[in-house]
Amino acid sequence: MIQLIHTKSAFKAITDQLRHDGKTIGFVPTMGALHEGHCSLVLRAVKENDVCIVSVFCNPTQFNNAEDFEKYPRNIERDAELLEKEGAKFVFNPTAEEMYTAEEMKTTFQFDFGGLDQVMEGKYRPGHFNGVVQVVSKLFDLAQPTRAYLGEKDFQQLAIIRRMVRLMNYNIEIIGCPIVREASGLAMSSRNERLSEQEKQTAVNISHILFESRQLTAMQSVSHVQHWVVEQINRIPGLTVEYYQIVDQDTLLPTDTWNNAIGCVTVYCGPVRLIDNIKYD
Ligand code: PAF
Repeated sequence: MIQLIHTKSAFKAITDQLRHDGKTIGFVPTMGALHEGHCSLVLRAVKENDVCIVSVFCNPTQFNNAEDFEKYPRNIERDAELLEKEGAKFVFNPTAEEMYTAEEMKTTFQFDFGGLDQVMEGKYRPGHFNGVVQVVSKLFDLAQPTRAYLGEKDFQQLAIIRRMVRLMNYNIEIIGCPIVREASGLAMSSRNERLSEQEKQTAVNISHILFESRQLTAMQSVSHVQHWVVEQINRIPGLTVEYYQIVDQDTLLPTDTWNNAIGCVTVYCGPVRLIDNIKYD
């Protein structure tokens, strides 16, 4: 039976005991509204560790848009049921008041991003990654897992968490896991729950255009393909590109070669902000 934990002290006591007993811990941090993408992380954590622990916490400090936070889907009962089926043993589900002091909620967490926060998501969601590092560092301190599993859909987040682990000397192996897509090609996301059936059909075009752009790399330059993708997506009624940037997979800096390149996109489908990416090699 899966165990739900709501306090930091109980969470820490459990993970301390597991480590004391020599167990390896696979940790999957989430904000809930779990889908098959999350399940793929959990399955891998279950397979590669003695115990899999998942956190379900919709972190207020990483939202720079109050409406996005308010409308973010939440359903802890359904999440816990799903996690039990997948083989997770513990779910950490604290309140915001449990996670943060009033002071922490008011102030921006400071971290040396080395410029990784100045591009793409960081540029369009100021303060977002400060909140991500704030919560993930707290979760890592409490869980001290052997391995942590994160999805490559949030490619920039993954790069930032890898940097955080390096700078803060966490003894945690970060495992990046591939994007899971619906049969239609749409990247799985908790935010898809906010799309109507019609919007979902429209959103499918994002991945199709990204896949198609891969066919162009033999003949076309990076900047041509970058413009082409934006133009193609913006042509679809109901879709508006916020940014599409082809960058180096390690530095996340704009690149003009296809070597080690990844294209990262953010698109508004109606009011819902969706992200996706595609590797070009
Ligand atoms: O990717 C997410 O769901 C969140 O950003 C994370 C890593 C759980 C931190 O709140």
